Amino acid sequence: MARGLRVTTASRYPSAMPSYKSPRGTRDLLPETRAGFSRLEGIARSLAARYGYREMEIPLFEQAAVFERGIGAATDVVEKELFRIAPRTEDSEAWALRPEATAGIVRAFVQHGMHTWPQPVKLTVVGPMFRYDRPQAGRYRQFWQWDAEAIGDAGPAVDAEVIEMGRRFYVEAGVPDVQVLLNSIGDSACRPAYLATLKAYFADHSAELPELELRRLELNPLRLLDSKDPSMKALIATAPKISDHLCEACEVHFEAVKAHLDAMGVPYRLEPTLVRGLDYYARTSFEFYRQGAEGQQQALGGGGRYDGLVELLGGRATPAIGFALGLDRVLLALAEVGADAAVEVPPLAVVAGADPADTVSRLRVAALLRAEGLSVRVELAPRKLSRQLETASKEHAHFAVIIGDELAEGNVQLKDLEAGTQRLVPLVDLARELARAAKSHRHG
Ligand code: HAM
Repeated sequence: MARGLRVTTASRYPSAMPSYKSPRGTRDLLPETRAGFSRLEGIARSLAARYGYREMEIPLFEQAAVFERGIGAATDVVEKELFRIAPRTEDSEAWALRPEATAGIVRAFVQHGMHTWPQPVKLTVVGPMFRYDRPQAGRYRQFWQWDAEAIGDAGPAVDAEVIEMGRRFYVEAGVPDVQVLLNSIGDSACRPAYLATLKAYFADHSAELPELELRRLELNPLRLLDSKDPSMKALIATAPKISDHLCEACEVHFEAVKAHLDAMGVPYRLEPTLVRGLDYYARTSFEFYRQGAEGQQQALGGGGRYDGLVELLGGRATPAIGFALGLDRVLLALAEVGADAAVEVPPLAVVAGADPADTVSRLRVAALLRAEGLSVRVELAPRKLSRQLETASKEHAHFAVIIGDELAEGNVQLKDLEAGTQRLVPLVDLARELARAAKSHRHG
C-alpha cells in the first residue's frame, strides 16, 4: 500500500511539472556568451562612430509588405523564412518580424523625410533578426546583426569605404583570415538582358529543376543562382555569369570600386557567382568568409548596393549601399580558433564583514562606493569572514573591504587580495583610494 502510494506520487508529480524550453532555433545568451556579444557590439559601435554612422532603432516587426516589396516576394527570406504574425482581427495589419534591417531602415528613411538631411545619411542598427529557417550550426531563427547603411551616395568610393569598414570589424574582433568576395550584379540597364539569357539556360534544363525553382524561373530567375537546394549545385556552376553581361556604366563603377580597394590595400576575391539572396541589390555585391569556409551557412556577413530600394518603398530615387555582419557567426568563428570572445570584468572590491550578521554596515558601505561609480560586490550571506574572503579571491576581486569594530571610529580594513597586504583606511578616503587603484588596473 505504502509502496503503491509512493509510486503514484512519483509518477504523477513529475509529469505535472511543466518543462519549458527556449523555442527551437533560439538561444539564451548566458552571461559569458552575452559578454562576447557585448564586446562585438562595442567594436561595431566604435567603428560606426569612427566612420560617421549614427545609431538608430527600428521596430522588431513591420508591415509584412515592407519585406515582401523590399526584399522580394520570391526570395527564400520572404517566401520560406518570414516570421509572420497572425493578425488579431480580420482587418488588422499583416505584420512580420524583421528578417534583416535594411528594408526597415529604408522605410524609416522615407517616412522621416531623410532625403532632406545632408547626404549621404549613414545609419547603423545592432540587434536581433528573425528567420524561420531550419536551425543548424550557425543558422538560428533569432540571430544578431550589425547593420550599416550609407544612403544617398552613388559611389563607387563609398562602396569601397563600406567594404573596408566591414573588413576592419573582423580584424578588430580578432577573426583571422577573413576574405572579401566581390561581384557586380549589374543594374536595371544590363540586368534584363542577362536575366533573359539566364532564363533560357535554366529553361533548357527545366526537367532537372525542383518544383520551387521551376516556379521561380518564371517569377525571378536570378534567385535560382542562390538556391539552397543541393540538386541545383551543378546547374548553377555552369550557368551564365552576370559579370560577362555588365553594361559599360556598371563595368566602370566596378573597376573604380576595385581601384579604391586596391589603393587602401583591402584584398578581395572576385566571385562571379555571388548574387546574394535578396532582390534589392544592384551593382556591387560582397560577402565576408573565413578562408576555406564557404557555403551559405558560413558567410560571416554580406551586403551590397541597393540603388532602387528607396524608390521601391515610396521615396524618391536614392542610391545606397550597406552591409550586415552576423554576430553569432563571428562568435562561433572566434570559438573555432580558440580566441577569447568574452571579457567579463571582475569586481574591483568585495565588501565583507567580521560580523556575518551585520549586513546593514556592509550594504551601507557598498552603496557609498557604488554611488562613487565603483564596481563592488557585497557579501550578504551570513558566512564566516574567512569564507567570504575565499569567495572574493576566487572571483578575482582585487580588494576586500572588511567591516569590523573599527567602523565605530570611521575606519575599515582594506585588504589587497592580489598583494596579500592589509591596512586601515578612513571610510571617507575609501572611495578615492579604490578609484586610484581601479585606474591602474582593469576593473568594471
Ligand atoms: P544577409 O546576407 O541575408 O544580408 O545576412 C547578413 C549576415 O547575417 C549573413 O552573412 C550571416 O552572417 C547573418 N545571418 C543571416 N541569416 C542568419 C541566420 N539564420 N543565423 C545566423 N546568422 C545569420 C542582409 O541581411 C542584408 N540586409 C545586408 C545588407 C545591408 N545589404 C545592404 N545593406
